[in-house]
Amino acid sequence: MSDRSAVVPNNLEAFWMPFTANRQFKQAPRMFASAKDMYYTTVDGRTVLDGTAGLWCVNAGHCRPKITEAIRAQAGELDYAPAFQLGHPKAFELANRLVELAPEGMGHVFYTNSGSESVDTALKMALAYHRVKGQGERFRLIGRERGYHGINFGGTSVGGIVSNRKMFGTLLTGVDHIPHTHLPDANAFTKGEPEHGADLADALERIVALHDPSTVAAVIVEPVAGSTGVLIPPKGYLQRLRNICDKHGILLIFDEVITGFGRVGAPFAAEYFGVTPDIMTTAKGLTNGVIPMGAVFVRDEIHDAFMNGPEHMIEFMHGYTYSGNPIASAAGLATLETYQEEGLLTRAQELAPYWEEQLHSLKDCPHVIDIRNLGLIGAIELEPIAGEPTKRAFSAFLKAYEDGLLIRTTGDIIALSPPLIISKSEIDELFDKLRTVLMNNI
Ligand SMILES: Cc1ncc(COP(=O)(O)O)c(C=O)c1O
Repeated sequence: MSDRSAVVPNNLEAFWMPFTANRQFKQAPRMFASAKDMYYTTVDGRTVLDGTAGLWCVNAGHCRPKITEAIRAQAGELDYAPAFQLGHPKAFELANRLVELAPEGMGHVFYTNSGSESVDTALKMALAYHRVKGQGERFRLIGRERGYHGINFGGTSVGGIVSNRKMFGTLLTGVDHIPHTHLPDANAFTKGEPEHGADLADALERIVALHDPSTVAAVIVEPVAGSTGVLIPPKGYLQRLRNICDKHGILLIFDEVITGFGRVGAPFAAEYFGVTPDIMTTAKGLTNGVIPMGAVFVRDEIHDAFMNGPEHMIEFMHGYTYSGNPIASAAGLATLETYQEEGLLTRAQELAPYWEEQLHSLKDCPHVIDIRNLGLIGAIELEPIAGEPTKRAFSAFLKAYEDGLLIRTTGDIIALSPPLIISKSEIDELFDKLRTVLMNNI
């Protein structure tokens, strides 16, 4: 575009931006005009390497032709079909393709429009499942400290990020939390899964005993916690959670909103870790982030438990106007085709050793107190500036953006999750730029 000033609005006031320091942003806006593959272009014509796949979602890279074309064609053919009591073929086709990728026995999906909606859907499904099984007294939900499960009331309640919770009153009742697994003293600078901390899963036994197992409906965790600053599960930890849930008839929910669709080197983290949950929440990479869509995967036994009673009755009183939207479904199908054609759902496994080596080479940079990684995920934890938490990482974010690199920060942690198409030379570019930022007195 020749006259870029034409696309920049002159008044930024009306849009109250999400999870943004609005006043800071509006004084010095950071705006993208276009994107292709691994790079954004800003409104003033600079290229920015995408080190975060947007918000952990653009797994196949930007503006991929197949996806763009599928959306364009679908918008001209069937734009919308009511989601309740009616359907259209692509939503079913996509569901069939999705369950082929899922762990064995998770043969059904329920569509939503976001990760937050997937989480709240999963929690409601868990409560309703126990009720249809005649165990309505199982009403408690257990999350984890530092967990992030989106921003709706259910997800905020089971989530464990204090700043996301403290403004919003009592949240859901009947919720408890197991401890997080961040053990910097024991595990700092671990490559891959940490050795220490599997025993933290045993805290679930105590919480379950405290409330009595018969009152607990479900436990929800991210297999790899992302938004809290990347916490990789200690070796054996997820299996222990699975065992405790099995022992007490509690459903285990994996929130795979960021780990789903290839991020750790398998279609889902459940497969990577060899631990199958009862319910799995997804969104983001499902449509390459292009059109909002989420999907909740459920074990057949859970789905089948609802398929009871008179056949004209609705089995699960839940759903969204846009569940399985035609354009989102078309985007999802084209996204899965792109992933499959390019081997992207397992590519992170091939690149992981190189990624790990380059990431950990930043260990000697000033203020770096921990580095963690798994698949194509990386985190660099910085020592906070005394009395000014989050400022150091935010300065790094601003400096990186100026230098042509998009990173994401949470607290004083830099999180990296590039599109899965990243090449080795782009990995080099990413870490060269990041080294310059970290060496720059932030
Ligand atoms: C694990 C997890 N769950 C849920 C969500 C919420 O997704 P959304 O922002 O699409 O509502 C996120 C978003 O980052 C996430 O990382």
